[in-house]
Amino acid sequence: METLVCTSPRQFAYQQATKPALTPGNAIIKIRRIGICGTDLHAFEGTQPFFNYPRILGHELAGDLVEADGAPEFAAGEAVTFIPYFNCGYCIACRSGKPNCCARLQVSGVHIDGGMVEYLSVPAYSLVHGEGLTHDELALVEPLAIGAHGVRRAEVQPGEVVLVVGAGPIGLGTMEFARIAGATVIALDINESRLSFCRTRLGVAHTVNAQSPDVAGQLADLTNGDMPTVVIDATGSLRAINTSFSYLAHSGRYILVGLQKGDVSFSHPEFHKREATLMSSRNATRADFEHVISSMKKGLVDPKTYITHRVGFEQVQAEFEHWLNPANGVIKAMVTMV
Ligand SMILES: NC(=O)c1ccc[n+]([C@@H]2O[C@H](COP(=O)([O-])OP(=O)(O)OC[C@H]3O[C@@H](n4cnc5c(N)ncnc54)[C@H](O)[C@@H]3O)[C@@H](O)[C@H]2O)c1
Ligand SMILES: [Zn+2]
Ligand SMILES: [Zn+2]
Repeated sequence: METLVCTSPRQFAYQQATKPALTPGNAIIKIRRIGICGTDLHAFEGTQPFFNYPRILGHELAGDLVEADGAPEFAAGEAVTFIPYFNCGYCIACRSGKPNCCARLQVSGVHIDGGMVEYLSVPAYSLVHGEGLTHDELALVEPLAIGAHGVRRAEVQPGEVVLVVGAGPIGLGTMEFARIAGATVIALDINESRLSFCRTRLGVAHTVNAQSPDVAGQLADLTNGDMPTVVIDATGSLRAINTSFSYLAHSGRYILVGLQKGDVSFSHPEFHKREATLMSSRNATRADFEHVISSMKKGLVDPKTYITHRVGFEQVQAEFEHWLNPANGVIKAMVTMV
């Protein structure tokens, strides 16, 4: 079968490999869609920390089930996606029902080879039914589940004001699930075209440019002086993460979905007087995947909005560099495999 291997930073090579055989407890998927995520772009650029090469990228996947061992409720030929975070099953997080933050987590396409292949073997426990959704929709379940998980961590209540900082694909999904939870959403970004996308395509109530004067004052005006009770970072920018502590309402919750390499710092008195809650949000669970799928089936999220670029598998090597340039306006690039 054909595979696309990221051999070293900024280098891809199409290579022939043996099609995986069915082994106990696993399933073989014929890959039909590969969504391209920031993690893939950073791995290609060579800026993803702790990343080893060569690596086959790709974890936002949809395909058709070829065969499975230990998944009797799944039928051969069924359209599926899967939860690409493979957990150990016995660490404290796994024992606490939180496999998404397993101490020995292996993410497909990150720690182990992923989906830029014709056929992929995955643990049968990771399979997710397609439920009549298209392959495009199924490949978008994983990135949307990241935001859905952040919103669930925040326990967003109807009528709350949720500030989402960062309007990339992860932030956009976060905004959608905050809206579905009944919140009024404010989007904050430095990129005006992404804010415009929030207003026109996602119907986000309010957008604020982070480079405009007196952001805190604008947020106060939008919330009758209360400030947002939930702030969710989806920038991965240390500066943005540190600044957003000051946007939080008294009694508020601050959730870090975005990830960066440095040390977060904040004023302890400011944090204390708010009795604020700080939490991180890592990956997503099966409950989040199911919530995303049912929201898609109800028409509450329209994943087609996210796909700005589309290529066939054979064009990925030539096109990938182009997707790195923000000027090209990529929100979600989708790879189609026949
Ligand atoms: N929780 C998880 O498990 C998980 C999973 C996937 C991605 N992530 C992380 O989520 C983050 C977002 O991912 P993405 O693919 O949407 O990234 P992206 O780079 O496409 O989007 C980030 C957005 O933040 C905006 N931004 C940057 N600096 C800003 C600032 N100072 N103020 C306001 N906005 C600012 C950018 O303009 C951009 O629109 C990344 O840090 C990524 O690593 C987390
Ligand atoms: Zn991703
Ligand atoms: Zn574990």
